[in-house]
Amino acid sequence: MWSGRFSGKPDKLMQEFSQSVSYDQRLWREDIQGSLAYAAELQRIGILTEQELGDIRSGFETITKEIEAGKFEWKIELEDVHMNIESRLTELIGDAGKKLHTGRSRNDQVATDFRMWCHSRANELQRAAEALMDTLVERASENLDVIVPAYTHLQRAMPVLLAHQLLAYEEMVTKAGQSAFHHACNSANMWNPLGSGACAGNSFPINQWAFYDKHGLPLEQPIPNSMFAVSEREFALDLVFACAKCMTSLSRISEDLILWSSSEFGFVTLGDAVTTGSSIMPQKRNPDACELIRGKTGRVVGHLMALFTTLKGLPMTYNRDLQEDKEAVFDATDQTLACLRVMALVFSKENFHVNRERIRQQLDSGAGYMEAMNVADWLVNQGVPFRDGHDITGRLVKYVESKGMRFADLTAEDLKTVDERLKPELLNELSLEALVERKQVYAGTARAQVEARLKELKDWLKE
Ligand code: ARG
Repeated sequence: MWSGRFSGKPDKLMQEFSQSVSYDQRLWREDIQGSLAYAAELQRIGILTEQELGDIRSGFETITKEIEAGKFEWKIELEDVHMNIESRLTELIGDAGKKLHTGRSRNDQVATDFRMWCHSRANELQRAAEALMDTLVERASENLDVIVPAYTHLQRAMPVLLAHQLLAYEEMVTKAGQSAFHHACNSANMWNPLGSGACAGNSFPINQWAFYDKHGLPLEQPIPNSMFAVSEREFALDLVFACAKCMTSLSRISEDLILWSSSEFGFVTLGDAVTTGSSIMPQKRNPDACELIRGKTGRVVGHLMALFTTLKGLPMTYNRDLQEDKEAVFDATDQTLACLRVMALVFSKENFHVNRERIRQQLDSGAGYMEAMNVADWLVNQGVPFRDGHDITGRLVKYVESKGMRFADLTAEDLKTVDERLKPELLNELSLEALVERKQVYAGTARAQVEARLKELKDWLKE
């Protein structure tokens, strides 16, 4: 493509080193879409005739069929997806193919293709996040009557509805995933670099607004500076950042499930479809799906760091370093998409089994003394200042602990021994259910609150 100025060929090693077609061929649809819009504009300003535009269109139809059928021959000596497709087009239709690149550079071409690719990828990720949100909402509505300990510092803290915890996951997937992908989607299709040429603009009187208004590209407005247009990758950062955020949340959810499915907790059992056995220990059921999600998170966050690092030292404008943006984005989005789908499978009705009896036994053991909050709350309602109530309750916990008993075993005698203000009627207030039900404020774990949120989510997800 640039043979005029050169007398030698690139070294074979250099060819392999610099090619990107082995992976950027994924951009082929967007490359053709961008070229079709560009050709239409070239025809409008008289660079291409009607006839030539027609040839270009039918050439791209043939190429599309060839690629879809796996018959297109990708050549590494043609370096990237753009030159492979243009070269094939010229082979098929001759001179009209050679005119297509008039005023365009691969610099604005690749930025355009990649923006469109990121736009549809972000959309796909958003849909996958929504499917996981649906699943979590379903599981939550089935678990409105199960109480689990909520932990702070990994110590039992407060009893909550299992539904409340599942909806906490739903919020994570919404905030860190769905809405982050929505943002990345808009960030990609808001701006169009096409027409910026190599870096200074286009010498021919194209109208960049026409790409969106007339020629059907999804990118809405021309970027107002051609130098910026070919050198920036803000949209790629936004997309990989969204992936890193989403993965970080999926990783935390995975960590909970890994703990919860251990013999120590035993709160849930994950189905055969998402667990694996051990080659040596026949008794094992390993939560590999969750571990892999947790493991892949480091990889995806790494891609974000890689992309930032690629960009940080670049002089204006386009530099070949930018070719390194693609693998980061491809792999980050591939992994995140797979993880969203696997996580939805983990939470499916078939694979997410709640061990209600085991959870109840664990709560009945009295470990962690979560009932203590009932005492502190009750004292406040009797007019005792909270700090004094905290102290009295602390002494009661110490008493219970020293006797090796549970809150459920306390008698009126015990209460009186610890403090005069602990009246016998308190014994009726000690259940975990009572504690859950007192969390009636907005966003609290009382059943009515959780049900109200569930309803909101169901209505929103149906839209
Ligand atoms: N394959 C290149 C990339 O991904 C396309 C742009 C090449 N531009 C150039 N001036 N060499 O960035």
